[in-house]
Amino acid sequence: MEQTLQEIRSKALAALADVLTETELEVLRQSVFGKSGSLGLLLRGMGKLTPEERAAMGKIINETKAELEAAMGALRDTLQTEARERRFAAEALDVTEPGKNPLPKGALHPMTQTYRTIRDTLIGMGFTMFDGPEIEWDDNNFTLLNLPKDHPARDMQDTFYINEDVVLRTHTSPLEIRALQNLTPPFRLIMPGRVFRVDELDASHSPVFMQMEGFVVDKGLSMAHLKGTLETFIHALFGNDVQVRLRPSYFPFTEPSAEVDMSCTICGGTGAGCRVCKGTGWIEILGCGMTNPHELKNCGLDPNEWSAFAFGVGVDRVTSLKYGITDIRHQYENDARFLRQF
Ligand code: DAH
Repeated sequence: MEQTLQEIRSKALAALADVLTETELEVLRQSVFGKSGSLGLLLRGMGKLTPEERAAMGKIINETKAELEAAMGALRDTLQTEARERRFAAEALDVTEPGKNPLPKGALHPMTQTYRTIRDTLIGMGFTMFDGPEIEWDDNNFTLLNLPKDHPARDMQDTFYINEDVVLRTHTSPLEIRALQNLTPPFRLIMPGRVFRVDELDASHSPVFMQMEGFVVDKGLSMAHLKGTLETFIHALFGNDVQVRLRPSYFPFTEPSAEVDMSCTICGGTGAGCRVCKGTGWIEILGCGMTNPHELKNCGLDPNEWSAFAFGVGVDRVTSLKYGITDIRHQYENDARFLRQF
């Protein structure tokens, strides 16, 4: 009997060496420990033994059983670990691998690109954002900006009136009034937004367009600060080779006022046969000036103590210049064939 046990043991250990899968292992385990397995058959013969022999035999059988169980258990662990590793390897995913059918990549609207370039340049110079409503008091849009009801310059801007006191803002300048009334100087502000004018939609006009107001209030400001600020973001938009000049102009809310020209980016400033600058070599890009003392006084600031400068940029106009867009309507219609070019 003991010899049979040794045979069962060595056979099982030999078979174990050939087992490659958990299924094979289970078959082997059944053939030893199962109901009609080899050990079971052996145990059935125990009845014929004397009590002493049975005790001795029982001890060896238990030892062998434990040994085989341990060997099978160890092999099961190894097989399971290997199987898990194989599965992990098969399921591994390289998330950095480029997609097989990459989705077409979107881009920012050209006007947004222009706006962000100006915005980020000014933020780098210590400006912060300031916002206000599109429906505005006539007072903020005109009167407090030094444009009283009978002022002839009101005609410069064809206004959508909601009633006698309320308008769709015709420019972002009323944000200057809101800033002066709500903030404590000194401050440097960027104030972008939609503005509205009674205009037929055509290649160069739109009843709604986008402006961006710059407004700086501090002590001892001069035209030099204004020009330096303008030059910095004009260079950020059009490159450092572009020349910037200030030309005397008139706005009720600035004194002195200037229109800002940059050297034509199409002909390089020579003007020779250039349709974009009409032969002048210069392109007008924005209006600006030193804030009129009346405006400061209207908002309770002493113009002898405080100075300010401001500028208003047409974001769509600058975008047209930057990208050579000849029809402003493209920027508002969002035709994908147009937008895809940016
Ligand atoms: N608000 C003016 C307009 O829409 C633009 C402008 C000119 C704004 C001069 C300013 C400025 O702040 O100083 O026509």
